[in-house]
Amino acid sequence: MGRLFDFMLPDNKSPLTADSTDGLFNFITEVSLIMLIGITIAMIYFAYKYKRKSEDDKTPVITHNNTLEITWSVVPLILVMIVFGWGYSGWLNLRAVPNDAYEIHATGYKWNWNFNYENGAQTLNELHVPAGRPIKVVMQSRDVLHSFFIPDYRVKHDVVPGRYTYVWFQAEETGESIIFCTEYCGTSHSDMLAKVIVHEPDEFEEWLELNGGGLQGSPVEIGEQLVQLQGCQTCHSMDGTQMIGPSFKGIWGREAVMSDGSTIVVDENYIRESILYPGEKVVDGYDNVMTPYEGRLSDDEITSIIEYLKTIE
Ligand code: CUA
Repeated sequence: MGRLFDFMLPDNKSPLTADSTDGLFNFITEVSLIMLIGITIAMIYFAYKYKRKSEDDKTPVITHNNTLEITWSVVPLILVMIVFGWGYSGWLNLRAVPNDAYEIHATGYKWNWNFNYENGAQTLNELHVPAGRPIKVVMQSRDVLHSFFIPDYRVKHDVVPGRYTYVWFQAEETGESIIFCTEYCGTSHSDMLAKVIVHEPDEFEEWLELNGGGLQGSPVEIGEQLVQLQGCQTCHSMDGTQMIGPSFKGIWGREAVMSDGSTIVVDENYIRESILYPGEKVVDGYDNVMTPYEGRLSDDEITSIIEYLKTIE
């Protein structure tokens, strides 16, 4: 249903979660507009009606007016209670996930979103979902406070280290929508973007099948997939460009000056330490901002990543 102020909102692509938010938004904006017009007219009218007409024109002493005072207390109270009730029921709806919801896990970390599916499929900054089915995204943070926001679905929730939070939605049509991080989380906060890709249900099943079952290939190939899935390129370039972290180009065997003035040669142990405990040795000229991977990658995975890094020349 079209309402007066819908033009101020992004497309509504998940009516089950967005309708109550949009309805309330329209209600508040419409009431505000009516108030603005009414108050402006009254002000102009009174300014004209009660303007000073002669030298001895004096305002009478008015102490109070019961009718007026009750009116301007009760009417706003009713409006505020409507807004509260509407907002509360909308919030309850956003918290009550339908029983048949399809569950996907999301991990936020500086500065990427990683998504995990039931069969082991993983994606970076792309959330694949089937259309016409409620989706529950269970979220966690690996480092600091982030916030998961899909404007088209009107869902937003903080992603907090050390606990799980969730959102749910149901995209009715295939297509794409943008995902924002809406909690300031450091240097690349504004680049912490992802998208939802909505598939036809059978197309989604195919996609899932194709991407499930874990990583395949030689250590170098697995290392390359891991570097992509973990979003390392958000901060480390492949072509020598200086980004938030040192470039991977020619990293193997490179001599690097540390922030304490010492010099190291990049070898297996240095890379391993830099992945697990990045704050231990920071290359001079860079900030200590990387999220530690301690407990997140297995020894085999780290070995694969090292083998891959050796090949980037
Ligand atoms: Cu993550 Cu802002």
